[in-house]
Amino acid sequence: MIGKANGAISITGIGAYAPEHVITNDELSQMMDTSDEWIVERTGIRERRVAADDQALSDLALPAARDALEQAGLDAGTVDLVIVATVTPDMAFPSAGAIIADELGAPDAAAYDLSAGCTGFMYAVAQGYGMVAAGLSRHALVVGGDVLSRILDWSDRGTAVLFGDGAGAVVLERVSEGGFLGFELGADGSGGPQLYLPAGGSRTPASAESVAERKHYVQMNGREVFKFATRVLVTSAEKVLAECGKSIDDVDVYIPHQANVRIIDHAAEKLGIPKEKIVVNVERYGNTSSGSIPLALADAQVEGRLQEGSLVLMTGMGAGLTWGSGLIEWTTNGRK
Ligand code: ACO
Repeated sequence: MIGKANGAISITGIGAYAPEHVITNDELSQMMDTSDEWIVERTGIRERRVAADDQALSDLALPAARDALEQAGLDAGTVDLVIVATVTPDMAFPSAGAIIADELGAPDAAAYDLSAGCTGFMYAVAQGYGMVAAGLSRHALVVGGDVLSRILDWSDRGTAVLFGDGAGAVVLERVSEGGFLGFELGADGSGGPQLYLPAGGSRTPASAESVAERKHYVQMNGREVFKFATRVLVTSAEKVLAECGKSIDDVDVYIPHQANVRIIDHAAEKLGIPKEKIVVNVERYGNTSSGSIPLALADAQVEGRLQEGSLVLMTGMGAGLTWGSGLIEWTTNGRK
């Protein structure tokens, strides 16, 4: 799916939250056969945050959502849409969206979850954009977050070292001009088995056997995912830029999914975008799945990199296999 935006809609508030507990690579190397050196060299990750036992996805998302609303100057009661991108909701149902809308105090909001792996946030932003553009929503809250620590096999060094927990949120509203210029989203289900969680759904419900076989944990073919990720980060970005009549040189801030520094470096080199334009925080958070792009957006804002008129390119990729890019001319002017 690809398209140019047809209405001025922008991000008017950003919030992010990561749990307090930090696990360093050295701590991981006491739990499994790995080392700080191996993890840093292959991934760039130095530490990650892990949720407390009593923290579920909605507990991470709520502080992020409240901060995003405060920044947008909106009362929660005016939110009419809550979309939560996650693969680790509090439970299968009710949705994290419904829980979050209730906790926030947004009784008039449509609220639901969206599952697109690590690309979830980009899918959810595109969907929120569409709802606002169509006039169905005036104040949309889009959350991206995951508690991947709950679905990691902590005895599998091939996956456990890569991920972390975190969430972010943005508010989407109409503005006078600028805002989103376009989106490109895609999915290739044939690649699904490269990154999946085999049990717990209707195909293989939870059973003593599925637990014993460790089928409730993330399983990944790292090399194949690496090849996929480096490819789609480039193709998706190039497609959305071409659709919007922009070139990579026009981009001021590039926010790729924070999976791995090597993946980001590969993509940046192929795209021809200089390092100083790229937002990277994977060294502090690991791969937080749907939380990764909004956490990076929040960091970019704190660092003063999201200026009025800045062209910001965001690209996510992940389980599905899925990918998605959004291009936005940064503005909060003329909120409606
Ligand atoms: N510590 C030490 N050694 C390890 C570890 C570890 N944590 N993990 C694997 N190894 C070993 C392997 O067992 C293997 O040993 P062997 O040669 O004796 O068999 C060796 O390191 C090399 O393993 P590879 O899997 O070939 O290592 P590779 O260079 O491919 O790096 C990695 C692995 C980092 C997982 C890489 O493939 C990668 O980054 N893939 C993408 C993963 C990813 O980012 N997934 C999520 C993206 S999509 C999304 O965000 C959902």
